[in-house]
Amino acid sequence: MEIESTLKMETDLAIKGYLDIELDPELDLIAEINALKKEKNAVILAHYYQDPDIQDVADFVGDSLQLSQEAARTPADMIAFAGVHFMAETAKILSPQKKVVIPDLKAGCSLSDSCPAPVFAKFKEQYPNHVVVSYVNCTAELKTLTDICCTSSNAVHVVNSIPLDRGIIFAPDKNLAAYIEKVTGRKMVKWDGACMVHEIFSREKITKLKIKHPEAKIIAHPECEEAVLALSDYIGSTSGLLKFVQTNAAKSFIVATESGILHQMQLKCPGKTFIPAPPNNLCACNECPHMKRNSLEKLYICMKYELPEVRLSENVIRDARKSIDRMLEISAHAGLS
Ligand code: 13P
Ligand code: SF4
Repeated sequence: MEIESTLKMETDLAIKGYLDIELDPELDLIAEINALKKEKNAVILAHYYQDPDIQDVADFVGDSLQLSQEAARTPADMIAFAGVHFMAETAKILSPQKKVVIPDLKAGCSLSDSCPAPVFAKFKEQYPNHVVVSYVNCTAELKTLTDICCTSSNAVHVVNSIPLDRGIIFAPDKNLAAYIEKVTGRKMVKWDGACMVHEIFSREKITKLKIKHPEAKIIAHPECEEAVLALSDYIGSTSGLLKFVQTNAAKSFIVATESGILHQMQLKCPGKTFIPAPPNNLCACNECPHMKRNSLEKLYICMKYELPEVRLSENVIRDARKSIDRMLEISAHAGLS
């Protein structure tokens, strides 16, 4: 009976995404989280799009590729993944023996949602002998239907690794796919998905900003639409954008990606100015609503109660892992980290 009720509680919590409990407002969350790290031999991995307080308490902050590399090599027993669900799944696939917890189970991704595995399986049947390259922003099930995963840091290397006589299906991001086609000169069959955050930037408003700040460099993530990329002085993954602002002589930058990255830019370059690229209406749409579901409170709770946990079947882990391992091999060969 006791076991049953514990199991039920676990399921309820997992569905809810986090424990709905009142925390003592006096609780020093940073100190508590640091104590939990030691007590549970846990590591906190955070994406650049997380809120600054989460980035600051994390052991490692990085882009999707760096986070997966870190998940594969960490000696910790538990990974608290402050990012979105597909990222935590990737960590679980690479470290199946570890417990992977996430502050909010509902932290999804519009790209991942755009490409349900059963629908993609039918789509794929139309293109026999094509190599399937999937952006890592997809479900574990989709990864089982994929030959090689990629991130925005290594997509060019992944596509260039495929023999010229092989067709390629690229899923799920059509904007990243179009950008890779341009860089590599390879035509690909593209899935029609897009990121809700990167699609919203306004070319007109960025142009107006540039007129106001002519000295500023425009930098953009390749998930942005072609019209925005065409205005950009530099296009790259989150880690690429971060490197660019540190090494480029310019003093100000208009940044077309999720605004969480500005925290590391400001920390690394305190003397420079970073202007978030404006969305095409008055919303805060340059913030990813999925990434922003996580909070310091939820991070504390998920580490304390080790819930919600990311769980995947052995078959999914085995089949999805091949496409991620292939990506990591190509990245290591290209010296990407
Ligand atoms: P990066 O791999 O560049 O960090 O991108 C992750 C992401 O979700 C972009 O929207
Ligand atoms: Fe997905 Fe876009 Fe959010 Fe990245 S920013 S997690 S691609 S919805």
